[in-house]
Order: sequence, then structure tokens, then C-alpha cells
Amino acid sequence: MSSTDRPDWSPLFQDNQQAWDARVEVHAQSRFYDVDGFRSGQSSLTPLEERLVGDVTGKSLLHLQCHFGLDTLSWARKGAQVTGVDFSAKAIVLARRLAEEVGLSAAARFVECNVYDTRSHVQESFDIVFSSFGVTGWLPDLRPWAQVIKESLKPGGRFVLVEFHPYVWMSQVGPDLSIRYPYFNRGPITEAGSGTYAERSAQISYREHGWNHPLADVITALLSVGLRLDQLAEYDSSPFDIFSNMVRKDDQQPQGQPSAASSSSRNAEFWFRDHPGMIPLVYSLAVSRSE
Ligand SMILES: C[S@@+](CC[C@H](N)C(=O)[O-])C[C@H]1O[C@@H](n2cnc3c(N)ncnc32)[C@H](O)[C@@H]1O
Repeated sequence: MSSTDRPDWSPLFQDNQQAWDARVEVHAQSRFYDVDGFRSGQSSLTPLEERLVGDVTGKSLLHLQCHFGLDTLSWARKGAQVTGVDFSAKAIVLARRLAEEVGLSAAARFVECNVYDTRSHVQESFDIVFSSFGVTGWLPDLRPWAQVIKESLKPGGRFVLVEFHPYVWMSQVGPDLSIRYPYFNRGPITEAGSGTYAERSAQISYREHGWNHPLADVITALLSVGLRLDQLAEYDSSPFDIFSNMVRKDDQQPQGQPSAASSSSRNAEFWFRDHPGMIPLVYSLAVSRSE
């Protein structure tokens, strides 16, 4: 689908862009993102992401919806040549600044654009395309997204997605997990928001639009552009306690009180206190381009 025959989503994207711009400074100061930990050498990637993507030494990697670049730069630290794409101007400015600060400017490039327009800004193709945690829900249609992924991959290249499971977006952050939204994509879900998952009491407010995508839509979009499914898994816990009423999987400790055993929030796993092991919270998939 070219930009000319798409519906006009620009007013919705504009709201979303402003919402993400508003979050950037708060996120950069938050314990959740732990930028100081990153500066001191820690990786922001989860063990699952690292395992699925594998060794990136000497590989080229495109990170779609990279936010302010912590994960992108973590891949660069592991030896990849990286390009991060995001439509939040504030996020891209911060990503470039962080790259400079930690001496990764030569290995990392950041591009400000809508993910749908990636191919107008990024012409080369990559060994790996990567995207994770909180990405597909900002996109109204996954077919142009899948096309961007395919066109960005070299023959033999792989796309790895690690994402929150669509099941959880049916209830948003409701304490009892009652169903508020359709599992299926029935059009935009528009909400006025305040605070942010990384700092719930932050003094920011915005209006934003999201879209729910059932697992079948994600997979069908990728297969329909000719990519081959190599891996698919669903998980009963999440490395991020972004919903209320989550507890650590290993000790059921309430959120905000990590157990003595935890040295990094990225190594912890969370699930809903009242529904332990009952709900899919995360899924992952890998697809490859053969020709
Ligand atoms: C939850 S964050 C990315 C996840 C990443 N795991 C993180 O936390 O750093 C979602 C990102 O998607 C970006 N985004 C949302 N819609 C987009 C679009 N249509 N094109 C490009 N970026 C978009 C936002 O600006 C934001 O930085």
C-alpha cells in the first residue's frame, strides 16, 4: 500500500506523536528506563530479546519504533551497526545525544519518521529487523508495516518481534481484568491519558489512539508479503510490570518491592497477582525473507 492509497490517519498520528513527545523527558528520568544504568554499561534488552535475536556481531540491524534508542544502542554495544526509526522528534533527539555520550555515534543512526514511511528515509537493507514491547498497537494496519519489514530485509534476513500479547489490551489496566475492548481490530480506540507506564504519577496529559491486533492479523500480514514464519511463542509473564496488580512471578512480591535476588528489572518476570500463569502476557515471533 503506498502512502497515496491509505486512509488519512494523519490527525490520529499527530495526537500520538504529541503523546510520545510528552513522555520522552519523563521516561528519560524514570527508574523504569534507568538511563544511568545504561550509561554505566548495562543493556536495556530483556533476556528473551537477546536469545531470540542471537549474536549480532558485525550485523546490520534496523530497529522500528525505537523510542529514545536505549535498546537500539544496546544492540550497537553488542556489535551491530544499527539504525533506529521513530516518529517522535524528542525521542530521536535524545537517542542521538545518548549515542554521542556513550561513544556509539559511528555505530548508530537515528531516523525521525513514521514507521510506514521508513523506506523513503532508509534505502539500505538489513540482516536483522527488530521491534519490541508496545509497538503494533500504535499502527492502524499491519499490512504496510509488514511490507516495510520485508523491503528492509536482505535475502536471508530475519525480523524478530517481541510484543505484549493482544489479550492484555482487552482490559487495559482494569484491576479486575474485565473486558473493555474488542480482541479484534474494530478501529481506533481513542483515550485521554495522563501519567505514563514508566511513571504513573507524571504530570503529563495527552490524547492518543491505539488499535488492537489479534495474533492472526500480525502473522497473516507478515506471511502475506512473502515472509516465512520461523518461530512463534506465547508467554505467561512479562519482563515489564506496566499494568496494575502485577507481582513478580518468582516470589509474588508486590510491584515496586523487588526481592533481594533481583539485580536488574530486565531479568524479573511479572504476572497478574490474581491470575498467575493463566493469561498470555507476551508473544514473540521470528520471520525470515528467503529471496
Ligand atoms: C513503547 S515505545 C517502544 C518500545 C520500546 N520497547 C521502548 O520502550 O523503548 C513505542 C514507540 O513507538 C513510537 N511510535 C508510535 N507510533 C509510531 C509510528 N506510527 N511511527 C513511528 N513510531 C511510532 C513512539 O514514538 C514510541 O517511541
